[in-house]
Amino acid sequence: MGNIAIYPGTFDPITNGHTDIVARASRVFDHIIVAVAASTAKNTAFSTDERVDIAQRILAEHKNVEVRRFEGLLAHFVRQCGAKAVLRGLRAVSDFEYEFQLAGMNKRLVPEADTVFMPTSEHYSYISSSLIREIASLGGDVSEFVHPLVNDALVERLGKHHKK
Ligand code: COA
Repeated sequence: MGNIAIYPGTFDPITNGHTDIVARASRVFDHIIVAVAASTAKNTAFSTDERVDIAQRILAEHKNVEVRRFEGLLAHFVRQCGAKAVLRGLRAVSDFEYEFQLAGMNKRLVPEADTVFMPTSEHYSYISSSLIREIASLGGDVSEFVHPLVNDALVERLGKHHKK
């Protein structure tokens, strides 16, 4: 399968910032596995199956991209997939400290793989899934930041609770 990269995250939900990273990385790596974390400390709005399903549908146009769920340690999943790279998007300097820690720890746990950072495109640098959820739950328009399918899912899941 060539050069495999794992792109891990919670993807609650997947945003245009994430898909931008995947699209650009799909031209660099032979195969990308978008790894949706099932066990996360985050209180997610969408179940793991929903997060996987949405990402799969949005990313279907990329023939060398696959979406899978993973449980437990990322390092175990990386090794199980035979990947040599963990792909992470960097949005701002504030991401750096945490990312550096994560990369260092993963390197200890799975020495044969390296973390590769890709800068997020400027116009997506301020997006985060929790901000998107918050705006949607308060009745704001997030259609500029997410795929129409995600927008519909957000309105369905969170939008109806807001009061005008
Ligand atoms: N564009 C837009 N938003 C982006 C982005 C991009 N390119 N990249 C990241 N984000 C957002 C995410 O949506 C997320 O938003 P939120 O915090 O508001 O939900 C935020 O930035 C942080 O993203 P990320 O660092 O990717 O966190 P995550 O929760 O999505 O993923 C895991 C973290 C799953 C990779 C990590 O917790 C993990 O590996 N867990 C498995 C357990 C494990 O192995 N632990 C030991 C690690 S050494």
